[in-house]
Amino acid sequence: MKLSTKVLVLGFTMMAGVAIAAEATDPTVKARQELMDTIAMNTGILGKMAGGENPFDAAAAEGAKAAIVAASAEIAAKFEPQASDPKSTSKEDIWANWDDFVKKGDALNAAAAAMDTTTLEGVQAGMGGVGGACKDCHTTYRIPS
Ligand code: HEC
Repeated sequence: MKLSTKVLVLGFTMMAGVAIAAEATDPTVKARQELMDTIAMNTGILGKMAGGENPFDAAAAEGAKAAIVAASAEIAAKFEPQASDPKSTSKEDIWANWDDFVKKGDALNAAAAAMDTTTLEGVQAGMGGVGGACKDCHTTYRIPS
């Protein structure tokens, strides 16, 4: 495995760990954080397989991919209400640049859909696109913790 893949996998594992940290009370914010947690959990499943931490399992990989495809399709709907909460790490820029934010959500959806989960190599190759889509959006629209 290439070093860049290892770094990505480590990043995913860390993101998955951070997932439980923010606990918003506003139900709309909570719902979008839970959507992200679902995305992170399933990205973690793929990342652990890609990194060799867990054995490759085509059915589990397909399930995780399907979950990311489904959850990423809901990003726009979950963020659209512009709800706020002290525990939210969303930047206000999201709603000021709404079309761009939606585009970044679509990019994750497309990257996940394009992943070939029938082989380990396919999952490894697809992780770059998926991880890149998370990073691209978080860098612009998420307050770093
Ligand atoms: C279109 C933009 C976008 C994409 C794509 C995106 N995220 Fe997020 N993510 C956000 C925003 C915005 C928040 C902050 C939500 C809040 O607290 O209001 C967030 C929050 C999170 C959180 C913290 C959730 C919590 O419980 O507080 C995790 C974990 C996360 N994202 C993981 C991921 C992973 C992994 C990917 C890629 C597979 C990803 N995200 C893709 C925008 C995005």
